Amino acid sequence: MAQVGIFGAGWVGLVTGACFAELGHEVVIRDVVPAKIDALKSGAVPFHEADVPELLERNRERLTFTLDVNEIAKCEFLFICVDTPPTHSGDADLSRVWTVIDELPELSGHPIVVMKSTVPVGTGDKVRHGLDVRGLGHVGYASNPEFLAEGNAVRDFMEPDRVVVGAFEEADGAAVAALYAKIDAPIVRADVNSAEMIKLAANAFLMTRISFINEIANVCEATGADVVSVAEGVGLDRRLGPHFLRAGIGYGGSCFPKDSLALKQLASNSGYHFQLLSAVIEVNELQKRRVIGKLQRHLGSLRGKKIALLGLAFKPDTDDMREAPSIVLASRLLAEGAEVRGWDPVADGSVLPRGVEIVDSIEAAVADADAAVIVTEWAQLKTLARPEIRDAMVFPLIVDGRNLLDPDEARANGFAYEGIGRPTVTTDGEPVLAGTR
Ligand code: UDX
Repeated sequence: MAQVGIFGAGWVGLVTGACFAELGHEVVIRDVVPAKIDALKSGAVPFHEADVPELLERNRERLTFTLDVNEIAKCEFLFICVDTPPTHSGDADLSRVWTVIDELPELSGHPIVVMKSTVPVGTGDKVRHGLDVRGLGHVGYASNPEFLAEGNAVRDFMEPDRVVVGAFEEADGAAVAALYAKIDAPIVRADVNSAEMIKLAANAFLMTRISFINEIANVCEATGADVVSVAEGVGLDRRLGPHFLRAGIGYGGSCFPKDSLALKQLASNSGYHFQLLSAVIEVNELQKRRVIGKLQRHLGSLRGKKIALLGLAFKPDTDDMREAPSIVLASRLLAEGAEVRGWDPVADGSVLPRGVEIVDSIEAAVADADAAVIVTEWAQLKTLARPEIRDAMVFPLIVDGRNLLDPDEARANGFAYEGIGRPTVTTDGEPVLAGTR
């Protein structure tokens, strides 16, 4: 079993640390924020992620939380799990990575610095150089990108589709790969640049699928096809596969928006205009705004209309509000003069623009509302189209931004219903909406 040091007690660092401890490794997690370390020492987990609290609790004796960088000095592996947020230019901000390199204590033996954070291609070369300049030429370097999806992160770590390890030295790559020996998954060994690109390319491909199916959905709306059937039929083609074909109001979160900008910027810094990725990003922006048009089709002007935003986190089973479509939607609705009420079972809606009223139940959100918008497909919303909800609303309109509900059932229960990429007219050309104003 190995000694694993982790820089950064954020979401990636804690999931990684908790999972390595579960695999039997000794883990030291170091952060610079005293409140975070104090909270972790007392057993509190600063975010909502399934299974992480249990893993941290179960592996307490193998986990140390510290502010002191020297405690990391004994570790054989030094994982960098810090934020790499976008700068104004779209480039990834690597300042926290450089702070870690600057702060590395005296290190003896042959520890290996391992990059988990998502970084532009070429970062490993620069860090290698930075280590050499700091007199740490004896320290190894490897890239081992994370592919963890929020809400499912522990499973993604323990049962990954693959583990990617890029290294300058064969032995360093082998040592990092050995950390995952208990995990049954293909290990992809690559050079450092390629390992970095695998992460960016995988995310870009996933986003491309989402924007692609969203555009198909928009054409479905214009032509009377149903994107849910279309996605099923397309996804059964083994060359395409069924994943990431759910049409909706666009992707958000801490990874996709930032990683797409970082890859676009990386390409453009290298003199290449990544046309397809630019379109993927633009489609995603427009997709969030299409909900406004749907509301206006039924309600006319939105001035003074009460709109309930149901689900605020960027996806269910997380409290993460980063780049959540709810933020853009709330801003657009307020700009149209609507009164906006927001509900989410776990996310903190206070990051929404000022003027949004945050309520603590679905019922409170829809009371006297002119429309309810499903922004995040929380399980609690599956039964939204019920008679009590219809009766509580001034106008029973549901805009289902995630195709969570059965359109026929919603309409049978007296709702005007709009999904994404689903027919709004019958085959005879008659509107299937319950009515317009
Ligand atoms: C993603 C990647 O999955 C993960 O591998 C990477 O390391 C970080 O980014 P995450 O952002 O947690 O993880 O969530 P994910 O489940 O991938 O969803 C991302 C976004 O795409 C969400 O906003 C989701 O609502 C949206 N999405 C996903 C769709 O709109 N349609 C789909 O079919 C799938």
